[in-house]
This record gives sequence, C-alpha cells and structure tokens, in this order.
Amino acid sequence: MPDFDFGPWRTRVDAALSAALPDPATSPQRLHGAMRHAVLLGGKRMRPLLVYATGTAFGADAATLDAPAVAVELIHAYSLVHDDLPAMDDDALRRGQPTVHVAFDEATAILAGDALQSLAFEVLAHAPVDAQARVSMLGELATASGVRGMCGGQALDIDATGGAMLALEALQRLHAMKTGALLRSAVRMGAMAAHCDADTRARLDTFADALGLAFQVRDDLLDVEGDSASLGKTAGKDAAQGKSTFPALLGVDATRERLRTLADTMRDALAPFGARTDALAALGRAAVERTH
Ligand code: IPE
Ligand code: IPE
Ligand code: MG
Ligand code: MG
Ligand code: MG
Repeated sequence: MPDFDFGPWRTRVDAALSAALPDPATSPQRLHGAMRHAVLLGGKRMRPLLVYATGTAFGADAATLDAPAVAVELIHAYSLVHDDLPAMDDDALRRGQPTVHVAFDEATAILAGDALQSLAFEVLAHAPVDAQARVSMLGELATASGVRGMCGGQALDIDATGGAMLALEALQRLHAMKTGALLRSAVRMGAMAAHCDADTRARLDTFADALGLAFQVRDDLLDVEGDSASLGKTAGKDAAQGKSTFPALLGVDATRERLRTLADTMRDALAPFGARTDALAALGRAAVERTH
C-alpha cells in the first residue's frame, strides 16, 4: 500500500487490540496466550484500515472507529485460527508463525477462536457511539460472520473441496460469503459511525463488494504464484487440496483480467467522492495488487 501512509491507523488498532485482549499472565494463561498469538503476531490489518478509511472519509471521529476496527479484526483472526485447523485447511504456517493449533494445541485453538469471536461482540457492545449506530454495527458484524457470511462461505468452500470445480456464479457466491461479507462489514461499520446517507452507503457497498471479491481472487492467485516465505502461509495449498478457485477455473490470465475489471469497478464507485476517499481507494488498489 505504497501511496498512502497507513502507519498511524495500524499503530492505533494494534494498541487497541492489545488492550482488548486478555492479560497473558492471568488464568487461563494458555487460552490467553493463544488469543494473543492469533491476533498480535502480524497481519495486514486490512479490515480495521477499511473501518478507519471509510469512517474518517465521511466525518467520523477516529475514537468512535476503534471498537468496530478491533471487533472486525478479532472476527477475522478467529476465522483464520479455525480455517487452519486440521479438520479444515490443515495449515501449519500463518502470518509467518506456527498456526495456533501447532504452537499450542487443537483444543486451545478451537477455544481461542470461540473466545475471539465473543470478545469481538463484547468490544462492539461498548462502542462509544449512539445506541442506534451500536445496534446496527452489532447486527452487521453478526450477519457478516454467520451463516449468511463467513461461516456459510466456509461451509460452501469445504463442500466444494476435492470434488468437481464450481461454476463461476457459485464460486463468486462462495467468495462473497467467506471473505467479502466481513470486508464489506468493515466498510459498512465505518459508514454507520459516520451516519452516511443511503446513496453514499449504496455506493460504498458497490465498492466493498468489488473489493471483497478481488481480495479473495488475489488470495487464490497468490496461492498459485507466491512463495510461502513471502506469503507467511503455505503456498500451493489450494491445488494440493483440490479447492475451487478462480485460477483453477479460469486460468491465471483470465483471473488477472478479472482483477483489472474489479479495480475499475472500485475506482468508478468512489469517483464522485473525490479526494476524501483517497485512503479507501488506496486500500482498493492494495486488494488487487498485494503480494502477501
Ligand atoms: C487471509 O486474509 C484470508 C482471506 C480471507 C483471504 P488476509 O490476507 O487479510 O490475512 P492477514 O490478516 O493479512 O494475515
Ligand atoms: C479463508 O480463505 C477465508 C476465511 C474465512 C478464513 P483461505 O483458506 O483461502 O485463506 P488462507 O489462504 O488460508 O489465508
Ligand atoms: Mg480456507
Ligand atoms: Mg486456508
Ligand atoms: Mg487462500
């Protein structure tokens, strides 16, 4: 993300995440340690950055954005802990570190994911915004992480693993649920904190839907073209496990073309907002250009 300095927001959310997580010196120490391992050891913080970029673009105070920024990253971290479990993608490397079930044990990894999810909603329930915005955010994050979002998408992913390749429509739906919903919830919660009007929210949804799809398409491409050291996670897993992905279905060239189209959609969606959405536009470009 070279053309915008996201350092201050990263520092801000890292401090808020560390403060929200339980003290590793207190009991149950193993669970607390696993939760901190899952959240604090790396990660691009894409979802919190989307909360800050959207909220501040439309006038929200950064102090009202910390709770949704922390909450969405906690949900994301939990989803990665469970995604890596032996019963799911069975991965040993995440963010350049051993996965939680490897560094700790499987039962602790399951519980750490569960506790991170609950903590997300606890943090959001105390967000210093008006009650209407708080309830809207809670509903949005719940929907995005549940059966109609991330969990439902992960179920579709598992169903589609090792069998016939999904058709394009079905694969897009899978991506929109497992990855897109949570990224869109980050944009939506930023918009809720800023009390954006319906037209603005609709335009931001168009941007976020394109970003969500692009983010997972890029992830699938990096699994083919990247190496484990720079990705910080195991490359080549999707083909090895027989996952339904864009490169497997369309080939690498058509996948790249698809990313260019999604980048255009994102740019067009933000165009009327002008310079105020520069940070958001940079995050959109990062979704399609990222190298890890
Ligand atoms: C990885 O997400 C899993 C997907 C949803 C594609 P990220 O690429 O955002 O992972 P971190 O947070 O930077 O580790
Ligand atoms: C993960 O998709 C999506 C989640 C909801 C966690 P992947 O299985 O492709 O993510 P990575 O490649 O392991 O990060
Ligand atoms: Mg997976
Ligand atoms: Mg995985
Ligand atoms: Mg992947």
